[in-house]
Amino acid sequence: MEIKKIAILCSGGDAPGMNSAIRAVVRSSLYHNITPIGIYRGYQGLIESDFIELNASSVGNTIQRGGTILQSSRCPDFFKEEIREKAARNLKKYKIDALVVIGGDGSFNGAHLLNTEHQIPVIGIPGTIDNDIAGTEYTIGFDTAVQTAVEAVDKIRDTASSHDRTFIVEVMGRKSPTIALAVGVSTGAEWVVTPQDEHDTKSIAQSIRKGMDRGKKSSIIIVAEGQTPGLSYNIQEELSKKHQIDSKVCVLGHIQRGGSPSAMDRFRASQMGALAIDLLRQNKMNQVCG
Ligand code: F6P
Repeated sequence: MEIKKIAILCSGGDAPGMNSAIRAVVRSSLYHNITPIGIYRGYQGLIESDFIELNASSVGNTIQRGGTILQSSRCPDFFKEEIREKAARNLKKYKIDALVVIGGDGSFNGAHLLNTEHQIPVIGIPGTIDNDIAGTEYTIGFDTAVQTAVEAVDKIRDTASSHDRTFIVEVMGRKSPTIALAVGVSTGAEWVVTPQDEHDTKSIAQSIRKGMDRGKKSSIIIVAEGQTPGLSYNIQEELSKKHQIDSKVCVLGHIQRGGSPSAMDRFRASQMGALAIDLLRQNKMNQVCG
């Protein structure tokens, strides 16, 4: 099947580097005489036919910009079969031969269903700060998010050591421990709590005291947010009530999703964007770049 027109959308949480991926998809498409259509606001825009034809200039000066020029959304409606049918109808109406989805696991589930139910050829580009997609060791946005969190923890270290304090720093990642582990190792944190751990405040307290006994006056505990952000406050309370250790909490939150993408994110995103078009041209549909 000859691919003449493709559409691209970003779905789920935005991630630094998504623009670099959009740019690569658009520029590679144009190079191969394929018309690229941008879909605004992810699956929501697909349902509403919020489409725009893109050209080389549409993605000029975007490789270094955070967020996504196409915007993104979480679209619970896409779980409904009749809504997916409408989406497929819109793609067919605009004669779009294939869909490139930049997003995480939820977004890929949606793409997979579009393919199995309506035979729409789809390609996934992994874009999420959580680095938790099966089949790829890297997802776009992870490096920048880790760097942002590391810079924040370095700053917190300064104030923690000036006041002999323990800080609990909560990082994003939902059920994925990858950001917490990378940040913990890169900042020399005293403890990392992952979503897979029972948060064992007794061990955390023992480790802090052990440090104090050898003259250490401040400590950093990195907590992965898990399913519900705010777990750090429970740990803080337990440390205080059960172990008489006072601490401060800093939840980094969405700051980790913003900012200019790192060189690594721009590079991987550019490679994956080009790969997506290569795969489609070779009729290798329904794949995820990795
Ligand atoms: O999946 C990316 C992510 O940033 C997670 O790390 C985080 O738990 C979640 O999105 C936050 O989602 P929202 O922006 O919808 O609150």
